[in-house]
Amino acid sequence: MEVRLAKSAGFCFGVKRAVDKVYEQIDTGKTIYTYGPIIHNEEVVSDLEQKGVQVIADKEALQALIRQWPEHSEDGAVIIRSHGVPKEIQQMIEESPLECIDATCPFVKRIHKIVEKESHAGKYIVIVGNPGHPEVEGIMGWCEGPLTVLETEEEAKDLSLPAEMPICIVSQTTFNYNKFQHIVAIFREKGYNDSVVNTICNATEERQKEAREISSKADAMIVIGGKHSSNTRKLYEICSSECANTYFIQTLEDLHLELPKAAFLVGITAGASTPNKLIEEVQNYVRINF
Ligand code: F3S
Repeated sequence: MEVRLAKSAGFCFGVKRAVDKVYEQIDTGKTIYTYGPIIHNEEVVSDLEQKGVQVIADKEALQALIRQWPEHSEDGAVIIRSHGVPKEIQQMIEESPLECIDATCPFVKRIHKIVEKESHAGKYIVIVGNPGHPEVEGIMGWCEGPLTVLETEEEAKDLSLPAEMPICIVSQTTFNYNKFQHIVAIFREKGYNDSVVNTICNATEERQKEAREISSKADAMIVIGGKHSSNTRKLYEICSSECANTYFIQTLEDLHLELPKAAFLVGITAGASTPNKLIEEVQNYVRINF
């Protein structure tokens, strides 16, 4: 029997880079903070907590930390997670005695640079994405002029912008490509002078595509990820539509795998915040026991 692990399972490039940066910093002996939890995975966050990494919840907490930080002490560092932060937050850290370690994913950083440059040049910025998501809040904070965040076609239809103002449309990295195209088409119909930059990252799409491919051939499919992780749930939906024998597990303890007698392929994939260690554990367990 073959066990096939999806190459795109687990952390994407940007999240892996950010998590690695935190672990690297632990060895420096400095007091390490992350602005917001580095990743939406309780195990990783509590492992880091045990190693002394502290989470700064918001701007107020950051201000309080900077206020009480000894002026000449260079023994602390704040790590910005892959989602990025508004320019104001980054500047606050940089101007403080704490070291600023920017682990913003380069794909997100690219959006910051685009909106900063285009809004500086006088363009109206339209961000297609979820306004409550930290990545979008970060992007908003790099705009120097008027902006709108929207996520549905209805919102795009209802929006009326000053006709004389050129606009620049970007998207949240995890936004659905087809939906983005539809929204762009609405702006085109309205005849705005627009420039569109497709800033969607294909890590999520790749992961879903590969999950579909493997599960369509598998006798059983295991999807690993947090209960509350929406991208893991999406993977589970895709896999169960292709393979009736699909298991959604958070840890190895949840796995009660029952395979048909003639099983020849078990597939494994994992959501974006699932650590490698856990994926390997599940993979080894299936290889050894079946
Ligand atoms: Fe991950 Fe960066 Fe893409 S954080 S999903 S590689 S934008």
